[in-house]
Amino acid sequence: MLRKFTSGNPVPTGAVLTSPKAEPVEAFPLLHGTKNGGFYFSFTMEPNGIVYGLGEAPRGINKRGWVYESYCSDDPFHTETKSSLYAAHNFIILSGERHFGVMVDFPARVRWDIGYTKTDEALITLSGTDFDLYLITGDSPRDIVRQFRAAIGKSYVPPFWAFGYQQSRWSYHNSAALDSVIEGYDKANIPLDCVYMDIDYMDGYKDFTVSETAFPDFKSYVAGKREQGIHLIPIIDAGVKKEDGYRVYEEARDKGYFCKRADGSDFEGGVWPGICGFPDFLRPEVREWFGSQYRYLLDMGIDGFWNDMNEPAIFYSAEGIKQALDKAAEARGENIDLGKFFSLKDTFMGISNRQEDYSSIYHLIDGKPVNHQKVHNLYGANMTKAAGDYFAEHCGEGEILMFSRASYIGAHRTAGIWFGDNHSWWSHILLNLKMLPSANMCGFLYCGADLGGFNENATRDLVLRFLALGVFTPLMRNHAALGTRDQECYRFERPEDFRDIIEVRYRLIPYLYKLFKTASEENDMLFRPLSFDYPDDPVARECETQLMLGEDCMIAPVYEQNVGGRAVYLPEDMRFVKLSGSRAESVELKKGLHYVQIALNEVPLFIKKGKKIPLCQPALRTRDLECEKVTYI
Ligand code: GLC
Repeated sequence: MLRKFTSGNPVPTGAVLTSPKAEPVEAFPLLHGTKNGGFYFSFTMEPNGIVYGLGEAPRGINKRGWVYESYCSDDPFHTETKSSLYAAHNFIILSGERHFGVMVDFPARVRWDIGYTKTDEALITLSGTDFDLYLITGDSPRDIVRQFRAAIGKSYVPPFWAFGYQQSRWSYHNSAALDSVIEGYDKANIPLDCVYMDIDYMDGYKDFTVSETAFPDFKSYVAGKREQGIHLIPIIDAGVKKEDGYRVYEEARDKGYFCKRADGSDFEGGVWPGICGFPDFLRPEVREWFGSQYRYLLDMGIDGFWNDMNEPAIFYSAEGIKQALDKAAEARGENIDLGKFFSLKDTFMGISNRQEDYSSIYHLIDGKPVNHQKVHNLYGANMTKAAGDYFAEHCGEGEILMFSRASYIGAHRTAGIWFGDNHSWWSHILLNLKMLPSANMCGFLYCGADLGGFNENATRDLVLRFLALGVFTPLMRNHAALGTRDQECYRFERPEDFRDIIEVRYRLIPYLYKLFKTASEENDMLFRPLSFDYPDDPVARECETQLMLGEDCMIAPVYEQNVGGRAVYLPEDMRFVKLSGSRAESVELKKGLHYVQIALNEVPLFIKKGKKIPLCQPALRTRDLECEKVTYI
């Protein structure tokens, strides 16, 4: 059962589509109150109770023992001591003797102290008093997820080809660079469907432009790639470069579409191109206008996009730089002590994504100025809605691939997400795994992390092990940062090992795509924690390194270096299947703990006893897959 409780005058977020009539917040059955201009509620967690949720967030599947904050943040260091990542997914489930879920529909900062201050208490604090709360009770966590997902609406389904393997890098600067990647894959016979165009394809990092030097005849270039079966996926950033004569900027400025400062002037902040205006995506007319800008690239034959920097990321503002320089000038010639030194250093380090900058931004909601901090977590979601609404109206259903960095629940209906700037760290394989079921709970089914890791240098074995998990994630994209080691598969020794892994993905695509569509149709999860399916099994309940996939399978990737396998827990008798290229070996294992050997070119999969799953023949492109011609393993 789902109940809605309203306090004050909430900003409409569009997250929840169907709900019963709201009750006053006083009727909210969990302990609650107001404090320091905000609202809090709390509940006691039984010793064995698990708290799931929060979608894209740091740490475990079980969220207990940490404090999280919903505040979309451009933070490229996803260490376990962080509280926020790029998204704000305000939905949790407590599962113990009783099960209930709570969704906090409130787009400003929310603090989730889940047993951090007091081991057995969850204390959730909202930084305001205008919000909706949803309380969902049910027989099991999965039942609660289904009810919640029914209320927030069906998840985005991407085109079929978006399940193909995707290669990205910041940046393939021009057509020659893109061609050499495609050639590298084709020569190594490694399947590939998409290649990404990061910021350098643009003319001076200006959205909805293509550099003529890099791509002299972009339209025919795109058409040529499509003939080869390759989709090019350009990035779109939230900030629009301030430049006289740049049509997109001038249009937004003249129509008054940028976010404002308190004095009514356009807010300006620096991103890749320098000073930018930030479209006020919270206004329907601005969304409509911004969405229609994608037309320029659609007309060039582009059919996929990734929306970035939409937390929004603000590298600097004139005010922030001035503050730091003034402080530095004050310190000049002085014998600065520890306190002053660190304060100076922190001021410089804090120039990016500065709270004072966010606080100085205003949106127009129903014609009235609203401070950005009150709606911060809606910005990226509405950028994505702008594009999604345009595609829904002007392109065929499921024609356009789109995913975003920042998101709020509701954006799951129009796009997927990727988990942002992770690192080439072994621990990030597990972080990726742990976020999958949490994101699914909140409606985000099309998701994945930068395989191989974005920041820092990857090793060959890390990329292989990361990819072996990526075989199962709907978005299977290898992406790396500027200045890091090349991590395209064909660049490493023995590229055939990479082919073995990626071919497994292509063999599984018909099965995975079907599972995905069913999960979307039935408001279900693609990935579930083992505890969802085996609530009475104490080992399964605590498992943080394996996931259930669909009804019949379990995945357990290798996530450590220099090991030839891993320990795996089977909550029931299963077949351990090793997939590698066209090879598939399977052995029956009994319920319990096992150590299984997995070579670098093998993908481990566990299939429930008596169940079989279809595999097709691999192909170099998804368009060449013969989805009906399958064998069963
Ligand atoms: C951001 C994105 C990353 C991209 C980079 C350059 O850091 O998260 O994926 O490569 O910007 O556009």
